[in-house]
Amino acid sequence: TLGWTSLGGWVVGGFAGVGRFFFPRVRYEAPTSFKVGRPEDYVVNTVDSRWLKEQSVFIIRKPDGLYAMRAACTHLGCSIGWFAQEGKFKCPCHGSFFDIQGDVLGGPAPEPLHRAAISQDLDGSIRIDTAQTSHKPGEREKTPFLLEV
Ligand code: FES
Repeated sequence: TLGWTSLGGWVVGGFAGVGRFFFPRVRYEAPTSFKVGRPEDYVVNTVDSRWLKEQSVFIIRKPDGLYAMRAACTHLGCSIGWFAQEGKFKCPCHGSFFDIQGDVLGGPAPEPLHRAAISQDLDGSIRIDTAQTSHKPGEREKTPFLLEV
């Protein structure tokens, strides 16, 4: 009886292991490339936070174009917020703050906020790619980090 029970346990355990193989422990992350509507959906001279919760980006509409700002502080990565009355991005963790361009105005953040690549699909919708970013003045104001409209 003990032998049959051991053999049965071994067989059941083997099948369970094989069955587990078909359900791998994979972490599914949001795609880095996504659409955020059309240029006319954004009001000129505003910072739009409608994609903040889902994609962690702000869309900034200027008279000559749009850019996408990553909502991660460049100090230790906390989520920043936009304070329209002060015209600043602020980090709640250690007090860094940034202007609308993403440049550091104060606090421990070592570099400007990162902008994500932004382009326009053939159907006219805006596409953001957070896998490609820049925080360097001179580079961030050009394609692909600025969508001229
Ligand atoms: Fe933003 Fe430290 S993480 S100031």
